Amino acid sequence: MPVVLVHSRETIKMGAPPPSMNGRAIIKIDCSPEEVKIGRRWVGDWVYDHGFPADAGDAAEMVASELITNALRHGDISGGAIEVRAFLDVTGGAVLEVLDSSDRPPLILGEDPTTEGGRGLFLVRLTTRELGWRPLRGGGKSVWCVLNAERDPAAV
Ligand SMILES: Nc1ncnc2c1ncn2[C@@H]1O[C@H](COP(=O)(O)OP(=O)(O)OP(=O)(O)O)[C@@H](O)[C@H]1O
Ligand SMILES: [Mg+2]
Repeated sequence: MPVVLVHSRETIKMGAPPPSMNGRAIIKIDCSPEEVKIGRRWVGDWVYDHGFPADAGDAAEMVASELITNALRHGDISGGAIEVRAFLDVTGGAVLEVLDSSDRPPLILGEDPTTEGGRGLFLVRLTTRELGWRPLRGGGKSVWCVLNAERDPAAV
């Protein structure tokens, strides 16, 4: 019996991320593949500096790398820069946002093992507490997630 693979095109929920409490930081990086590393490391450092354990910083770097690479590959980068934001939400969770100039929503392409690609956001969704996107007032969008990380009480 052949296995039928359905390649789903699931949309990611649209809406704002949880409200910001503090710790808000923003970096703008140039639209080039070399800059992905700068954005990724900036996120990892922010997570560690805000009282999350080192392994949470490593996981955040993976997620940041996926979202920034997507902004470069699929987003409209005519604005010349990709903005990356990090902040603590009202529960103390860590929120990461990556902004690009395209209005097209991100998609979960599913788990089709026969295709190349389409894994990035599937993995981001699996490894984060929440994944969403929102259109921005002046055009473009933010793709955001709440990291699956607990702050070290001794560091808070
Ligand atoms: N920032 C974005 N702007 C517009 N579309 C996006 C954006 N991010 C993702 N998408 C859409 O969602 C799809 C799934 O993204 P995903 O990261 O899962 O896969 P991919 O980037 O195609 O491949 P890879 O497995 O290498 O990440 C993309 O193919 C694209 O169509
Ligand atoms: Mg991707």
